[in-house]
Amino acid sequence: MKILVIGGTNFIGPVVVNSLVNMGHEVTVFHRGKTNADLPPTVGEIFGDRAQLTEFKTEFKRLSPEVVLDMIALTEQDALTASSAFEGIAQHMIAVSSIDVYRARDTLWGKESKIFPVPLTEDSVLRRQLYPYRGIPSPSPINSSDDYEKILVEKVVMANSELPGTILRLPMVYGYKDYMHRFFSYLKRMFDNRPAIVLEETFAQWHGSYGFVENVAYGITLAVTNPHAKGRIYNIAEQPSLTEAERIKKLGCILGWEGKVVVVPKSRLPEAWKPSFNMNQQWIVDTTRIRKELGYLEPVPEEEAFRQTIDWEKKHLSEQPQKEDDPWLFDYATEDAILTHVST
Ligand SMILES: NC(=O)c1ccc[n+]([C@@H]2O[C@H](COP(=O)([O-])OP(=O)(O)OC[C@H]3O[C@@H](n4cnc5c(N)ncnc54)[C@H](OP(=O)(O)O)[C@@H]3O)[C@@H](O)[C@H]2O)c1
Repeated sequence: MKILVIGGTNFIGPVVVNSLVNMGHEVTVFHRGKTNADLPPTVGEIFGDRAQLTEFKTEFKRLSPEVVLDMIALTEQDALTASSAFEGIAQHMIAVSSIDVYRARDTLWGKESKIFPVPLTEDSVLRRQLYPYRGIPSPSPINSSDDYEKILVEKVVMANSELPGTILRLPMVYGYKDYMHRFFSYLKRMFDNRPAIVLEETFAQWHGSYGFVENVAYGITLAVTNPHAKGRIYNIAEQPSLTEAERIKKLGCILGWEGKVVVVPKSRLPEAWKPSFNMNQQWIVDTTRIRKELGYLEPVPEEEAFRQTIDWEKKHLSEQPQKEDDPWLFDYATEDAILTHVST
C-alpha cells in the first residue's frame, strides 16, 4: 500500500513510519525538513510547509498514495488544506486527534463543574468551549497555536464525502523521545534518591488515560491499513488505567527506588503545590471499539514500556526541563518541609 504521512519525523510519527515499512508498505513523509528522524532508507521525503499542501498536488498525483495519515492536523485550516490537497487522489484520510475533545476535559481544567461519568466512549459528549489553549500563557502545555482545535479537525475530516476519513483519539503518550517528559518529575526524584514523592490526595487517586508510544503507533498502523476503519472514530489508550500513585509505585519498583509515595490533603500543601486541575474528574477512555473492530492489543507490556521510558529519560537528562522551566521540579526544600509537617 502507498501511504503518505504528513509529519512523521518527531515523536510518534517515526515509530508509525518504521512499523508501516516493516509491514511492507511504501511510505513517503511530507514535512518541512526541520525535524529529522532515523527513518528506513526506502522512505521517500517531500519537503514543504503543510500550509502550502495544495501547491504539491501535481507531486501528490504522481505519487498517488492510497492512504494519507495526517499526524499533525492541529487546526481547522490544517484539515481543510489537507482535504483539498488529497481529494481525488487518495482513498482514505486518517487524522490523529486527542482525547482532549471530550467535555470532561473542561471539568478537569476547571471550566465546568459537572462531573462526567467515565470511561469516555467515542460517543461521549464533546467540549462546548472551543480552542482549549487560547489565552493560556505562552508556551502552552502542548506548544500549539491559539487556533488549535481537534474538534474542528475531526469535523472537517469526517464531513468529506469524497475522501473517507478516520479519527484516532490519542491519550497522553509517553516513551522514548517524549518531548513532554511526562514522567520526568517523578523519575527525577527517583534518580536523586529522594525519600518520598508528595502527592495531593485527589491527584494520587486520579486516573488518566496514557499510552506507550509503540503501542499507540501500533493502533495507528491498524487504522491506516484497514479499509474497514473508514468513517470510524477510535480511542486509543492502555487498559486498565492506573492511578497516579500506582504509576509512580510501578516506576519506582522497576528502578529499585526505596522511597515512598506520601499522600497529603490539599489543605496541608502550600498554594503553589495545590493541583490547579479538578482531579475529581477522571479522564479514562474506553477502547473496546478499536480492540473489537481492528483487533488492537498492546504489543509492548506495561513493565517493558516503563523500562524503555526510564532508560531514555536517563540517557537524555540534559534535554529535560531545567529549574527555570519548572521551579516545582527541583523544589526539594519545600517538599522536605511538607514531609516534616506530615510526619509530626
Ligand atoms: N504527545 C501526546 O501525548 C499526544 C496526545 C494526544 C494527541 N497527540 C497528537 O499526536 C500527533 C503527533 O505528534 P508527534 O510530534 O508525535 O508527530 P510526528 O509526526 O512525529 O512529528 C511532527 C511532524 O510534523 C512536522 N511538521 C511540523 N510542522 C509542520 C508544518 N508546518 N508543515 C509540515 N510539516 C510539519 C515535523 O517535521 P518538520 O519540523 O521537519 O516540519 C514532524 O515531522 C499530534 O497531532 C498531536 O496533537 C499527541
